[in-house]
Amino acid sequence: EQIYVGVDLGGTAIKVGLVNAEGNLLQVFEGPTEVPKGPEAVIDNIEKYVRQIVEESPYDWSQVAGVGAGVAGFTNVKEGVILLAPNVGFKDVPIRSILEERLGKPIKIDNDANVAALGEVWSGAGKGIDFCVCYTLGTGVGGGIIIDGKIVQGFNGLAGELGHMSVIPDLEAIQCGCGKMGCLETVSSATGIIRMADDAVKRGDRTSLSLLEEAITAKDVFDAAKAGDEVAIRIVSRAAYYIGKSMAAVAVTLNPQRFIIGGGVSKAGEFLFEQIRESFMKFSPEPVTRGVTIEAAQLGNDAGMIGAAGLFIRS
Ligand code: BGC
Ligand code: NA
Ligand code: ZN
Repeated sequence: EQIYVGVDLGGTAIKVGLVNAEGNLLQVFEGPTEVPKGPEAVIDNIEKYVRQIVEESPYDWSQVAGVGAGVAGFTNVKEGVILLAPNVGFKDVPIRSILEERLGKPIKIDNDANVAALGEVWSGAGKGIDFCVCYTLGTGVGGGIIIDGKIVQGFNGLAGELGHMSVIPDLEAIQCGCGKMGCLETVSSATGIIRMADDAVKRGDRTSLSLLEEAITAKDVFDAAKAGDEVAIRIVSRAAYYIGKSMAAVAVTLNPQRFIIGGGVSKAGEFLFEQIRESFMKFSPEPVTRGVTIEAAQLGNDAGMIGAAGLFIRS
């Protein structure tokens, strides 16, 4: 039997999973990315974790048919090069050839949100949906576009970087990790939500968030909003508003049937989703909203690993 390894390379953790040809995740290993140690150390970690998970499994190395990786950054899929991944500390890293050499296996590389989208249409919230756009709301905001059941790659494999859609009005815009102004990611990622909360506390706004003893998390902000804290409500509604607004732009461009939202921030649930839907409806011409749904991802943290292995099986 052949087996695939799916790697999810994020800024905090590297998750590796063993996936069979049916898309079942059989085993998972997670270790730290260790971004401050630099790209070499991060790649050492990937190699180590991949070898380790296979070693600890009932399979042997010779059964590994390929290693797929989803990376949190602008990824030139054709060349297998990570062009810019601020959260992982990579710039112009030819990761595919490096891993090919180190592991001696076929390697496929794609963007983390693209592979998460592929995972969701394969066996999650997008099953059976051929026109689907996924957002992942985490440290950054990722996007994955599925048309006719396949990831849309674009000229250099950079299609679907929805977090860098510039949607914030100039006067309110701040600079993004990508270097540009007003990106969706600056308000709708966990990082953006935390920054808005920190700013409010620093300004001296009246909010329960100022009473927290530890650093504010995105979950703190959602909990406070759900409990009626006005400042937190404003932050959440701002994050939701711009996601919905960007979806409206996507809807008139691609006419997807379903939007899927995953990533840690999506755990806020219906409270967040209702506000996103409202904003989407506000900005979308009626015809492109017909039959369109906005739903939560189903594979959670597994989507990236499953989709990364899916690069071999499903593309
Ligand atoms: C990166 C994307 C990535 C997303 C989620 C963004 O900052 O530009 O490539 O998909 O974060 O990790
Ligand atoms: Na993407
Ligand atoms: Zn940006």
